[in-house]
Amino acid sequence: MTPPTFWLRCEKKEFEKRAALTPTTAKKLIDAGFDIFVERDEQRIFDDSEYEAMGCKLVENNSWPSAPVDIPILGLKELPVSNDPLPHTHIQFAHCYKNQAGWVDILSRFKRGKGTLYDLEFLEDASGRRVAAFGFHAGFAGAAAGALALAAERRGEKLGQLNPYENEAAMIDGVKKALGGSGKGVKALVIGALGRCGRGAVDLFRKIGLEEDDILKWDLAETAKGGPFEEILNVDIFINCIYLSSKIPSFITSDTISAAGKDRRLSIVVDVSCDTTNPFNPIPIYNINTTFSEPTVRVDLPSEIPPLSVISIDHLPTLLPRESSEQFSADLLPSLLEFPNRDSVRLWTDAHQLFQKKLGEAEAVA
Ligand SMILES: NC(=O)c1ccc[n+]([C@@H]2O[C@H](COP(=O)([O-])OP(=O)(O)OC[C@H]3O[C@@H](n4cnc5c(N)ncnc54)[C@H](O)[C@@H]3O)[C@@H](O)[C@H]2O)c1
Repeated sequence: MTPPTFWLRCEKKEFEKRAALTPTTAKKLIDAGFDIFVERDEQRIFDDSEYEAMGCKLVENNSWPSAPVDIPILGLKELPVSNDPLPHTHIQFAHCYKNQAGWVDILSRFKRGKGTLYDLEFLEDASGRRVAAFGFHAGFAGAAAGALALAAERRGEKLGQLNPYENEAAMIDGVKKALGGSGKGVKALVIGALGRCGRGAVDLFRKIGLEEDDILKWDLAETAKGGPFEEILNVDIFINCIYLSSKIPSFITSDTISAAGKDRRLSIVVDVSCDTTNPFNPIPIYNINTTFSEPTVRVDLPSEIPPLSVISIDHLPTLLPRESSEQFSADLLPSLLEFPNRDSVRLWTDAHQLFQKKLGEAEAVA
């Protein structure tokens, strides 16, 4: 009998260094009897040799289209835009289930190729919680970017291009150095502090040396009184990490910022949640997503008011590709180990049913 197999494909999205399978998790699958093919990929944070040392079989970059169709292809981000039919089973984030741009075209490629998509965003445990997500490192990296922006602001500069860090220690070291050796004295407020992103933001602030009392941790209980909140104006960095599910009062507005005048302490807002174009965005003070090359955008304020910058990058975990991949992949591992029984394991059958439903919706509008 042939062993269960996964094929880890390369990532083609610019700047994407993360991987759905790391050398550590690949080894665990191999120990459980799996065969693992790994496409060579110079972009990935993990060297090809790290996979080889674990017993993975290296194959050419981007060679998955000619892989046997019964081997599931594991990846992270979207495939490059194309019209080619997709005959394989793909496990990845496809970003085509919420009517995103191009969703019908992507699903029609699966339809025409008779392939299957298991979207990582919709692999949920029995309580409806995602089994693997990048939230913790999004918050962690967002807080780091916020601290770097604060340091730049204090020097009278604008934060320059952000580049992925080799590892967490390098990020913490870089942020502390930028702040003159430690984050002590900086005051931050994290809203959504009990969630994945929020916990990551709090962890970064602790690791760069903020005093515990200077990290205000708010979640549903603290915002129940309804915004806007004065407290946001009295910290250096405000990090929004909530999961927005309905209309809520704004947390901060241009009017509350202007009303605070020159005495405002708030310098940097990091909107990790990035509900930028959502009509219910509780931070209606900016309207673009920022990028690694231009990480901040200035809030439009009267000239006599001190400047305020917002960071609204929607792929923050990419800043910490090694640790964020390790954590994501470790969380995904138990589900991957069950994949050979995908026709009977609830998590996989649910994901398959969702795929069939979305395929039908795409067909209806095609
Ligand atoms: N920018 C990025 O790179 C990036 C990466 C990953 C996730 N995200 C986004 O971050 C958001 C949070 O993701 P998560 O995985 O941390 O979600 P989560 O469900 O783990 O946590 C969300 C937290 O927000 C709290 N919350 C919800 N509404 C609130 C309110 N009105 N006031 C106070 N707290 C409130 C919840 O109680 C929960 O503790 C999502 O929108 C997600 O899409 C962004």
